[in-house]
Amino acid sequence: MRHMLILGLETSCDETAAAIVENGSRVLSNVVASQIDIHKEYGGVVPEVAARSHIEVVLPVIHEALETAGVTWDDIDGIAVTQGPGLLGSLLIGTLTARTIALIRHKPLYAVNHVVAHTFANFLIEPQPQFPLLALSVSGGHSHMLLFESPLEYRLLGRTRDDAAGEAFDKVAKMMGLPYPGGPIIDKTAPLGDPHAYKLPKAKLGDSLDFSFSGLKTAVLRTLQSEIGGDFRTHSSEIPGRLTETQINDMCASFQLTIYDTLAAQLYRAYQQHQPKSVVIAGGVAASRRLRQIISEKIPLEMHYAPMQYCTDNGAMIAAMGYHLAQAGRTTDPLEFKTDPSLAI
Ligand code: KG4
Ligand code: ZN
Repeated sequence: MRHMLILGLETSCDETAAAIVENGSRVLSNVVASQIDIHKEYGGVVPEVAARSHIEVVLPVIHEALETAGVTWDDIDGIAVTQGPGLLGSLLIGTLTARTIALIRHKPLYAVNHVVAHTFANFLIEPQPQFPLLALSVSGGHSHMLLFESPLEYRLLGRTRDDAAGEAFDKVAKMMGLPYPGGPIIDKTAPLGDPHAYKLPKAKLGDSLDFSFSGLKTAVLRTLQSEIGGDFRTHSSEIPGRLTETQINDMCASFQLTIYDTLAAQLYRAYQQHQPKSVVIAGGVAASRRLRQIISEKIPLEMHYAPMQYCTDNGAMIAAMGYHLAQAGRTTDPLEFKTDPSLAI
């Protein structure tokens, strides 16, 4: 088979990322310029700041991806770019860049759904997942459960009704005065605490495969308010600095276990209903070792996990999905391309 090189470009949130991937699976380069240090100062992503930062680094990041892969534009067979969902200003930098390059260089352009693309991180490793494939995609912007019959035949089984899992981590970390992003720091802190120290509620969503984390977040706030001797009127900004190390460790452990138990329970329920050949997890939260452990204990299949750099936002997953769009001939006219911050599955 002739090899096909796709450039994947991702700018939906706070990472400017470009990658060159061969045949949807072999990563030749994967360059990520993270804005975490910039947004840390504000305790979260500031959309206007994110967009400006993408403008500054998008071209250098693309050039570095080409250079690291040792290829030139002549070798590139197509350009895949995140169409949405995400922050409008951030998305526009990536999509306008990709559309312009596609026009000037006469390359086919592929519009990629960011949430779906996260699953394709699992095709960048061996062994490749098999279909039907059940995928849990959990990040700061979304928490979705998808069932794939083939690379481009997929449907939504469930999703969060309010906060995304990563978003809940980020918000609770902020409440306790821990730095952004919350997921990794809670992942590091939780093993130091007692996961049964605080009893936190799990949302009851009947038979659905949905998630809900906002009630849990409020329960954490109420618990922390009372731990510092306040009540429901105590502003969350008064909490940091007034918690003991033990309280922080215990809350990280209890909160994390509640979220991961919920994710694993819903994934297991979907597994039983649909009997997939493979189950994968994706998105920034999938980088968590603890989540991987809890899921591996529940799902009776051999699980393979993508390395960290493919779980968080990256261009390689976009290029991998772009490859399948290319195989199916699903190009998008650069002049007709619609950037969509609330792109559905
Ligand atoms: O996929 P991603 O890089 O960007 C979005 O599309 O949102 O995910 C970022 C999210 C953040 O909320 C962050 O707190 C969470 O993923 N995250 C983690 C870990 N690493 C990143 N959550 C739990 N454990 C981790 N190790
Ligand atoms: Zn993402």
